[in-house]
Amino acid sequence: MKNIISINHKLNNYKKKNIKVDGDKSLSIRFIILSSISKGKCIATNILKSEDVISAIKSIKKLGIKIIIKKSKCEVYGKGLFGYSYKKNLILNAGNSGTTARLLLSVLVDAKKKIKITGDSSLKKRDMNRIIVPLKKFGVKFKSNNGKLPVYTSGSKLLRPINFYEHLGSAQCKSAVMIAALKTFGVTNIKSLPSRDHTEIMFRHVLKVPIIIKKKKNYELIKIKGLNEFKSFNYKIPGDISSASFFIVLTLLSKNKSLLIKNVNVNPSRTGIIKILNLMGAKIKFINKKKYKGENIADIFVRSAKKLKSINLSPKLNSSAIDEFLLIFLVASKCNGVSIFKNLSELNKKESKRLNWGFKILKLIGVKTKRLNTHGIKIYGKPKLNLNKTYIIKNYLKDHRVFMVSVIAALSLGGSWKIHDSDSYKTSFPAFIKILKNLGAKINE
Ligand code: S3P
Repeated sequence: MKNIISINHKLNNYKKKNIKVDGDKSLSIRFIILSSISKGKCIATNILKSEDVISAIKSIKKLGIKIIIKKSKCEVYGKGLFGYSYKKNLILNAGNSGTTARLLLSVLVDAKKKIKITGDSSLKKRDMNRIIVPLKKFGVKFKSNNGKLPVYTSGSKLLRPINFYEHLGSAQCKSAVMIAALKTFGVTNIKSLPSRDHTEIMFRHVLKVPIIIKKKKNYELIKIKGLNEFKSFNYKIPGDISSASFFIVLTLLSKNKSLLIKNVNVNPSRTGIIKILNLMGAKIKFINKKKYKGENIADIFVRSAKKLKSINLSPKLNSSAIDEFLLIFLVASKCNGVSIFKNLSELNKKESKRLNWGFKILKLIGVKTKRLNTHGIKIYGKPKLNLNKTYIIKNYLKDHRVFMVSVIAALSLGGSWKIHDSDSYKTSFPAFIKILKNLGAKINE
């Protein structure tokens, strides 16, 4: 059969194994975009070579920026804040990547010609108004069909700084405004609900542009002074905790396993999954902790859990685990007790409607759930959950995280699985299947 993988076994003992996951996706895309507006040659090592990052690279190249990929290195020849060449009838395709589409719209605020930004069928369903609305306040002109791709932008000759309240807890929205502020005369002010803070860290520790960040209890205040050119820089991209999470959960849910995942970015705005799993009874540890250009890096040690307990999760932890909820739901399925997760409307705005997919996958494997008001889910855990039927996963808009969580469910819970669109994982984690095979998984492609 074409493009379907089958998995018919639980992954047996691996002990004291070391693995490395691919480079961080958020940092890789930010590196490509920000290096392209620096002054000179930037080099990243361990850049993620996934489809999302390739979409960012191809788009930036179309703006006249030279980018060379050499084995594990990526060289970007930045031309300064206003160095793009804007050709006629330019079309940039962000593929499946929300981050690429949204950050591209922001780095194009000074476009001199009309540019079309488009994406694949999943990305065309996603909301771009959350970016268009604040960028219009800078003075940028847009045309779109109700805030969906394709979006046409024709930039602005007179960008003006803005005051922006980022109320969704979206790092993409916050980052888009921050990047637009770099090209704008004056001071842009942002008040932002918590979300990953890689852009703030890069601005302060790598680009060294004038920025003031005040972290308050429930929000963050950011001030950026624009029109400061910045020098070229190098960056060693650490492993992606979102990719590491698949292996953390696989280890946790199976018997007699332990795993060390080396050199992962454990920025506190990304480690919600670790905090949540530890609250559920896991004993995941960070070792060899170090700092790199403002980011926290560590090796992650995890072993199989003897007992897992349910959780009533405080929504305060939602943003730091935003891409990991399908995995967290899977763990809740094996817990003793009923787990509750609330305020997850943003999950249905991802590559697929991920909250709905949570319900679908749990129903498929025979775990009872209830829908809660305000976009929540109640999961009735089954500690003895053990699967022995046939399970088919398809029509999920090729959402890489739906694909990978299904593979982890198969390898940790058993049963016979057929998962369609077997190349979906290449969007974010090209080494996923290879690492599983090295750990002993038998996956028929
Ligand atoms: C990302 C931010 C998150 C996350 C996405 C990557 C980023 O989205 O879901 O996968 O790199 O900024 P939000 O914009 O909703 O925070």
